[in-house]
Order: sequence, then C-alpha cells, then structure tokens
Amino acid sequence: MAEKTLSGDVYYPTEEVINHANANCEELYSSAENDYEGFWAKEAENLLWFDKWDKVLDDSNKPFFKWFINGKTNICYNCLDVHLNTPHRNKLALIWEGENGDFRTYSYFALHREVNKFANVLKSLGIQKGERVTIYMGRVPELAIAMLACARIGAIHSVVYGGFSVEALHERIDDSQSKVLITADGAYQRGKIVELKKISDEALQRAATVESVVVVKRTGHEINMEPGRDMWYHDLMALPIANNSHNVEIMDAEDPLFLLYTSGTTGKPKAILHVHGGYMVGIYSTLKYVFDIHEDDRFWCAADPGWITGHSYIVYGPLLNGATSFMYEGAPTFPYPSRWWQMIEKYGINILYTAPTAIRGLMRYGEAWPNRHDLSSLRLLGTVGEPINPEAWRWYYKVIGGERCPIMDTWWQTETGMFMITPMPCVPLKPGSGTKPFPGLKVDILDEEGNPVKPNEEGFLVIKTPWPAMLRTIWNDPDRYIEQYWGKYPGMYLTGDSAKRDEDGYYWIIGRVDDVLKVSGYRLGTAEIESALVSHPAVAEAAAIGLPHEVKGNAIHAYVILRTGHSKSDKLIEELRQHVGHEMGPIAKPEHIEIVDSLPKTRSGKIMRRVLKAKALGVDPGNISTLAE
Ligand code: WTA
Repeated sequence: MAEKTLSGDVYYPTEEVINHANANCEELYSSAENDYEGFWAKEAENLLWFDKWDKVLDDSNKPFFKWFINGKTNICYNCLDVHLNTPHRNKLALIWEGENGDFRTYSYFALHREVNKFANVLKSLGIQKGERVTIYMGRVPELAIAMLACARIGAIHSVVYGGFSVEALHERIDDSQSKVLITADGAYQRGKIVELKKISDEALQRAATVESVVVVKRTGHEINMEPGRDMWYHDLMALPIANNSHNVEIMDAEDPLFLLYTSGTTGKPKAILHVHGGYMVGIYSTLKYVFDIHEDDRFWCAADPGWITGHSYIVYGPLLNGATSFMYEGAPTFPYPSRWWQMIEKYGINILYTAPTAIRGLMRYGEAWPNRHDLSSLRLLGTVGEPINPEAWRWYYKVIGGERCPIMDTWWQTETGMFMITPMPCVPLKPGSGTKPFPGLKVDILDEEGNPVKPNEEGFLVIKTPWPAMLRTIWNDPDRYIEQYWGKYPGMYLTGDSAKRDEDGYYWIIGRVDDVLKVSGYRLGTAEIESALVSHPAVAEAAAIGLPHEVKGNAIHAYVILRTGHSKSDKLIEELRQHVGHEMGPIAKPEHIEIVDSLPKTRSGKIMRRVLKAKALGVDPGNISTLAE
C-alpha cells in the first residue's frame, strides 16, 4: 500500500480496493516504463488477430504514427465473435432502458446475430469497405448495432450526436460523403419527441451524397418516408438478405474504423479518424485497468454514443472486455430526480461513469433522492469531460459512492481515443485531479517557449509519446492535422488544454486555451455557434464566448451586430436563440445574447474573444496592444 506522504486532500485506496484490482498498478507503471512497446504488444496479445503484426510501432513518418504493422483484425469480431465459444455466449452484452420505461436486453449471442443481419443489410444497400455511413440516432440499441455492423463490413461510421440539428448534420454528411444515413423516427428526451427524421429530411435537402436512409421505429409517430430513398429498419431486417451469418471483413490494423467530428480552434468541425487495430487495443486496456472490469460487472457509461466517450466506453470497450454495458435513453432527472439511482438499484450497476455537469445537476436536488435507493452494488465511479470541482467530487464520493468507491477522473479527448491522464484503483486520489498519465505515457506542461513550467504553474499540456488509440489524421485534411496538433512544439502533441502539476506530480486540468467550449461537458466551437448566428438574415457579425456556469461548467454568451434595417428587440433575441437551436442543436443555444454596435478586433480583423470575456467578468483584459480601437 502507498505510503501516506502526499500533500493536500488525499484519499488513499483501501485494502479492499487494492485487493480487488485486476492488476497491480505499480507493476503496470514499471513494465510500461521499462518497455513501452512491449507493454502494448502484451495487451494486444489478449485480442484476436487473423494475422499477427510484424512491428508494434512505426514512427518513420511522424506525426503519422502507425501501430501493429501488418496486423489483421476486426474490432467487431473482437467485440462479439470471440465471446461466442466461451461462457460469455449467453451473458448479457447490452441492457437498455428507454426513457418511457421500455426495456431490452441482448446477450452476446443475440447481439452478434443482430449485427450480422444488419451487416448484410448494409452490404445489400451497396456499402463497400472504406465507404462512409452516417448514424444519427438517440440512445437506442440500434445505434450500437449500426456501429458494429459498419465495423464488421469495413465501412467507416460517422456518428452524429442526436442532439445536433439540421446544419450540424448536413455539414457532417457532406464532409464525409456518406452514401447511407441511419436514423430513427424520433427519440425520447424529457418526455418529448426529438424529431430526428424531420431534421434528417431537412439536412438531406442540403446534402447530395445520401442514396438510402434506414429508419428505426422508436416513437411510432407520423413521419415522412421518401419513396425509393427511405426504408424501415425492421422491414430490411425481415428480408431474406438479412441473413444471420456474415463473414467478417478482415481489416488491416491501420484501416479506418470511424470518423468523429469535433470542434477545433477555428472554422468547421473536423473529422477525427480512428482505426481498427490501435484504437481497439487502447480502449480495451484502459477500460480493463482503470475501471477494474471483472467478469460479472455491469458497467454504465452515461455518456451518449454520439461523442467519443460513448464510442469507446459504451460500445467498444465494454464488449471487448466481455462485460455488460448498460445504456439509458433519456434525461437523468426524468420523470423525477431519482431516475438514475433507481436504475442503478434495479440493474445492480457496479460502475458508473458520468460527467461533472450531471453530478452537479443531480446534486441540486439533494441527498434524499439517492438515499432512497440501495446503491450498494456500486464499486467504482468515474468522471470525464471537464474539470470536476472538489465540492461535486466529494458529494459523488460520499452520497453516491458511500465513501467506498474510488473515483476515476479520466482526462482524454476525441483525438486521444482512450484515457490518458487517469488514476487506477490503487492510485491515491485528490479531488479535482486526474492524477497521473496512464502507464508509459510521457506528458508535460510547457510555457510559451517550450520550457517545462515549475510545479503549480500553469502551462500548455502536451503529450510526448505516441499511443495506440491516437487519432491518425483529420479526414481529408492532413495538413491541418500536422499544423494543429504538432505545429506548436515539434514532436509533441498539443492538447489544447492548460494544466498545472503539483509537487507530487499530480496533474490538474484547468481548461481549454483555444476557441473550444465545454458546455455541460459537450464540446462546441465558438466558430460553429457564430456561423449559426450569422446564417440568420438579421445578423451581420457575431462572437461567442463561454462564461462560468454553476451546473453547465460554461454557458454560451453571444454578442451580435445586426444588419441595417433590423432593430434590437427581445423577440429578435429569442428568435436568434431558436435559430441556433434549429441549425446546431439545443445544446448550442446561447444562454444570453447581447446586441452590440461593435466587437473588439485586432487590426487584422480577428475578434478578440478574450477581451469580451474579461469585460463580461469585470477583470483586466491583459495585453490589448493589438486591439484596433
Ligand atoms: C476536457 C471528452 C478535465 C478537456 C472525453 C479536453 C477534461 C476536452 C476531462 C476533450 C477531465 C475531458 N478533466 N477536463 N477529466 N476530460 N476534459 O473531445 O478540455 O469531447 O480537451 O472528449 O474535454 O473533449 P472531448
């Protein structure tokens, strides 16, 4: 057991937690430290390869790193087929509860059969290896089935979060040039129906590449079905072509698995590319060790599959580990604030993984709601998406975890694919710190000139070692990949976050240093919100910033200059908010819109969001020598 020598508010692991852990983490740290490639090779050997790799890492063409060279595999095969000749065959792979109380389960056998059938359906729609398929759905099992079926046939999935709207969907379909869109008639959220099909129809008017639309019947309400283009999922699955068996496509380790669009420093969202081999190995191992996955665990990652957290840790990670993944469709507090706690009790969830914003939101309703439920099945907790304030950490630890469950504060990104800075069960915890890099990773915090900062000083967080689940590139834009991630400090991956390291070597993430906002844990770009605003006829110019918000972490505030002929009114402001909701999605609706006559700009015309933020917060804007006026 670790000596109690750390400074600050420290929670040391109990003997029980250490004894239960599926690995000795001191050994993991030292083995990865001594032989980094050997560490990952050993992890990869736990998975199935049709042909073994010749070499673990190829760094001859930096920053285009490759892993498991010439290895042949398929992530879907490793998620499903490998479990069929084991006692996992009839174990539950997925448990799902709908917001309206609907309930479904899939054993590994049943999920495999369903995925095979849908893989055959996709083939019959003409989808070939390497082609893109956009998936736009609520949190329903068919979303996971569609992702796995794409992986199985070697198609590249691009999941668009079901909370996004028309323009966000259009942009992503267009950029990926998808031939097929898989969606649903609707999704339940807070007792209302999200009109997924209606939004899809509107987005498809702007996107030309889609030939077929597959529609899952979830709500059963009236929707438009375009003859010749739109087909019901259940009709297709009933056809003879939807055969139970499908010969998996053999993929090279470096073959693309998915695109996931995320917000960057400037302009349009970019498609982050992940591949079959390295991504599979990275998420398999991180989930296994960090969340101490055991045979009989029921793991609930409460994120949405539309974001990286759901890709890696609702769908692929738990299945690779042969665990049971739980998925819930709806809002945490619907129809009452104990909905989550009730489900933890009902399904005997052992591990809960969520975001600080959800914890803060649930905390507001008080302890009485969770206290009404037996949460003793919980063994471990996790958090992700933004820094967790120590107050929320302690509430989560005490009220939800009963002071027995360690909290894994996992720092990572769409780009990293897997956990990067994170505790493991045996690591002493400090509320608000992600603790240490995952075994073998070298991380640093640098100043503007590239020198490591002193303890407790803020700087740019960088990663100095490649890792198997790293993004391979930005789809269609390799130059942007090089420039954005590897341009500031040659040879190092720039995360876009600022952080500090304390005297014990613990990392504390402060937040984004670019024009990316984390709103309720969701990643949005100021540029996307601004372009949604200026697509309204009344708006000439717009600037969006994030300001601190008690529950959301950050809330969006926008400043707008009107076109001549339009005048300021509360009605117009509300119309602009609705317009952003319609184009981007409800999560992007600004909290507050202010109509202004001018915006602070540099002499070259760039909006200085930093000045707007300082003014809103009533603090010193710092150096404003480049300000035009
Ligand atoms: C932030 C989400 C503090 C960070 C997996 C990062 C965090 C961005 C944490 C990536 C954490 C994620 N503590 N901040 N534990 N986890 N972040 O791509 O700013 O949606 O750069 O991936 O979320 O967001 P993304």
